[in-house]
Amino acid sequence: MARAMTVLVTGASGLVGAEVTARLTAAGHTVLALMHSNGTLLRNNGRKLTPAPGSLTPLTGDITRPGLGLADDDMRRVAAADRIVHCAAVTDFGLPEERYERVNVAGTRHVLGIATAHRIPLVHVSTAYVCGERDGVALEDELDVGQRPGNAYEKSKLTAETLVHTAAGEGLPVTVVRPSIVTGAARTGCVRDFKTIYPVLRMVTRGLVRTIPGHYNAALDLVPVDRVADLVTEAATRFEDAEGLTLHAVGHPLTLRDFSDVLAEYPSFQVPRFVPPSSFSAAALPDAERPFYDRVVSLYDTYFRRRIHFDATRAAAFSARPAPAGGRPYLRRLLDHCLKVGYLGAPVPREPSPARSERSASR
Ligand SMILES: NC(=O)c1ccc[n+]([C@@H]2O[C@H](COP(=O)([O-])OP(=O)(O)OC[C@H]3O[C@@H](n4cnc5c(N)ncnc54)[C@H](OP(=O)(O)O)[C@@H]3O)[C@@H](O)[C@H]2O)c1
Repeated sequence: MARAMTVLVTGASGLVGAEVTARLTAAGHTVLALMHSNGTLLRNNGRKLTPAPGSLTPLTGDITRPGLGLADDDMRRVAAADRIVHCAAVTDFGLPEERYERVNVAGTRHVLGIATAHRIPLVHVSTAYVCGERDGVALEDELDVGQRPGNAYEKSKLTAETLVHTAAGEGLPVTVVRPSIVTGAARTGCVRDFKTIYPVLRMVTRGLVRTIPGHYNAALDLVPVDRVADLVTEAATRFEDAEGLTLHAVGHPLTLRDFSDVLAEYPSFQVPRFVPPSSFSAAALPDAERPFYDRVVSLYDTYFRRRIHFDATRAAAFSARPAPAGGRPYLRRLLDHCLKVGYLGAPVPREPSPARSERSASR
């Protein structure tokens, strides 16, 4: 094993942070887990994290406050840390812009303040969608290319990553990991929190929203939570190799055509119709549909327009673990898990189809 380290993990109770914490403690490192309002650490499978005695120290803090609002004793512990992994962020969409500014931008500034003051190497968790609203290939080396962010969350993550790059330019050792859309575990589809794309899947498969502005050749990139946690952990533990790199933690893009075809395999699901954004009008939706569109789907419809591919050459070259296979079989695993736990209703028995055989063969 590499030298045992002490790592401050912000957002340790989050979907990604808890899995990173689990991996670090399991590998013999000590984690200072920054806890905010949620004081429990649950693994992605919903079970409580049970690290070896002494390997986990929860610290109460708030990244919106200078010094992360840490008590003096806790700050002394943090100052002696070997690494910081910054996962904490507001990840829900549709909140007031000021909230993203306070947590995602000012919060990152406060984390950078500590990292810089004590010269602690930083792994910053950003998002692949700092690429903004554009089509084509987004490279790991690109950051601000004049893109228009898809929403206030993306804007805040772009600003935060820019701050991190500025600090790197001033001598702070940093690595940036950019996940795409974090979804269930690669092998099982299991996910702890049904957020981001999941509420949209729920609305559309129930037929509550039937028409969505989007392009059938737009691509959604879903990445298994275990891939993200592995890459972030690897970046922290093999920092010498990761320093200065930006790594795309991404899966394989699925087009909306893929989505539609896979949803159509499930007898209990409704399949939405994607219409060109230029001819879509939310006001023209049926009364029963419009509130669901406005409240949930509209927050994500920028993702149904982008024909984007995330190049992950650097991540592939850095990581000792191969990127998991994605595509339609992975989407089916996600959906099967949702049905298993009742999130997308009860499963309806079905005849095996060629598509289902394709899935079995790929396991
Ligand atoms: N999930 C995705 O699809 C996705 C995609 C791309 C990038 N990312 C990035 O990956 C990182 C982790 O995402 P995630 O999905 O694990 O997020 P998450 O599940 O929403 O967890 C966010 C974490 O941040 C903490 N936090 C929020 N406000 C805080 C504050 N003021 N002070 C301290 N901690 C605070 C939360 O703690 P409390 O709950 O106690 O407030 C929670 O532990 C984020 O930087 C996110 O932007 C996520």
